[in-house]
Amino acid sequence: MGWGTKNRLARIIKSDGRTVMLAADHGYFLGPTSKLENPRKTLEPLIPYADAIMVTRGVVRTSIDPLSAAPIVLRVSGANSIISEDLSNETIITSVKEAVRINASAVALSIYVGAKHEHQTLANLAKLVDECEEYGVPVLAVTAVGKELGKQDARYLALACRIAAELGASFVKTYYCDGFEKVAEGCPVPLVIAGGKKLETERDVLQLTCDAITNGAAGVDMGRNIWQNDNPVAMIKAIRAVVHENASVNEALNVFEKEKS
Ligand code: R5P
Repeated sequence: MGWGTKNRLARIIKSDGRTVMLAADHGYFLGPTSKLENPRKTLEPLIPYADAIMVTRGVVRTSIDPLSAAPIVLRVSGANSIISEDLSNETIITSVKEAVRINASAVALSIYVGAKHEHQTLANLAKLVDECEEYGVPVLAVTAVGKELGKQDARYLALACRIAAELGASFVKTYYCDGFEKVAEGCPVPLVIAGGKKLETERDVLQLTCDAITNGAAGVDMGRNIWQNDNPVAMIKAIRAVVHENASVNEALNVFEKEKS
């Protein structure tokens, strides 16, 4: 890994080897997702507590203060929608030059292993990694989103994550599953987990985070379970306690309750 790549990655994954990334790129294929209708309003109070923010260039330009210190993980794959016939039909939508212009700390791209456009999305990843090598920009590969959510078993996720790492991803985003330690074991680069649809209780979210960390994740790249919570700042602070301070679920719940009031 070159100096620039290492330096950029260190802005996202902190010196403890952990990260709390805030995912807010949902609009790229979901449109105005609930509670993210106005990204600036949603993100502004959360940015001080996020180690990085994952967004598209549209949200960067319209909704994030350029003077904000938060590292940007720029989503650069897309050109699909939730109502399209096949979500896996993605291409690269933003150049690496544009990512550098934005001063992104990493770029993110989805791969769809086992889907109709598997080959296309894996080739997108390989091409992006080659281009990013030239500029020292880390690549985050995102696996198993959208309609592929049914495939949340360790065997599938281990396959998808390992392929992403083999193709040169600097870190990988996936979902937590039973047997996650096998996914982590087979993946030689850091793993971060998405939160998925909003869970019923704060305890559920903190348990998910705690389980992921205990079983080998470097952190979270979480969206809906933070900003769809009625107390999003309290939620992200509680998640930080788990990720960066090894807080137990009960300790993190105390953080949530204290911050909420
Ligand atoms: C989906 O493609 C996006 O990368 C989302 O950022 C991702 O699903 C994480 O968000 P959430 O925690 O809401 O699942």
